Amino acid sequence: MVELTLPKNSRISDGKTWPKPEGATNLREYKIYRWSPDDGENPRLDTYYVDMDDCGPMVLDALLWIKNNIDPTLTLRRSCREGICGSCAMNIDGTNTLACTKGMDEVIGSVNVYPLPHMKVVKDLVPDMTNFYAQHRSIEPWLKTTSNEPRTEWLQSKEDREKLDGLYECILCACCSTSCPSYWWNSDRYLGPAALLQSYRWIADSRDEATGERLDDLEDPFRLYRCHTIMNCTQACPKDLNPAKAIAETKKLMVERKL
Ligand code: SF4
Ligand code: SF4
Ligand code: FES
Repeated sequence: MVELTLPKNSRISDGKTWPKPEGATNLREYKIYRWSPDDGENPRLDTYYVDMDDCGPMVLDALLWIKNNIDPTLTLRRSCREGICGSCAMNIDGTNTLACTKGMDEVIGSVNVYPLPHMKVVKDLVPDMTNFYAQHRSIEPWLKTTSNEPRTEWLQSKEDREKLDGLYECILCACCSTSCPSYWWNSDRYLGPAALLQSYRWIADSRDEATGERLDDLEDPFRLYRCHTIMNCTQACPKDLNPAKAIAETKKLMVERKL
């Protein structure tokens, strides 16, 4: 029988348990993935205790509390702290989500925090987004037109504008793509739900005049068709968007244009 095991250097070892904050009576346990490219060590899971009487209610509040009060080397990305920039995406309690909108009260017991799955790690909770952003760039996320420029602006009816609802709100956090098994195995060739939702956002835009070209670009066994409608993406999206539906709509257009 084939035995599949992780290479030695990717096994997560037990990390350090940091001392409990002095005098605190209302504690919450955090177990956090740590890895640094600089020390040649395996990844480890460090344990911290957060003083809940001195900390805000979100997981991001606790991570910043740990960074400010216990361990300044803990590395993570964040910016807006209100679910808009997408930079604090990570795996919390087994689910990809945004640390700034995930309430600690939504997690039972100790809070386990890992970087987004199946991405290379830059350090600790920071994933390498290079490939993800390159895929987004590859779908040419801008208005493409051939008609003469209008004197003022490209107009759109209210109804056509409404067709972009549920698409334009994507914050490119990558929670969906990194929850997609097809993307885990083929992220070098499959675009993944985030880039495909963005692609459909331009295909569905009544002002865009490159629909045929955009569909031609997806006509490939991997870029689009590696989606097997597993739906993890839609379940993971912290903005309640539906990338699986956008992918299905794109596939439908592919079929319709051949009829
Ligand atoms: S529906 Fe498609 S894109 Fe979404 S998780 Fe499944 S395979 Fe991935
Ligand atoms: S579709 Fe949702 S989960 Fe995916 S990148 Fe956009 S906001 Fe994030
Ligand atoms: S910090 Fe911007 S989405 Fe969380």
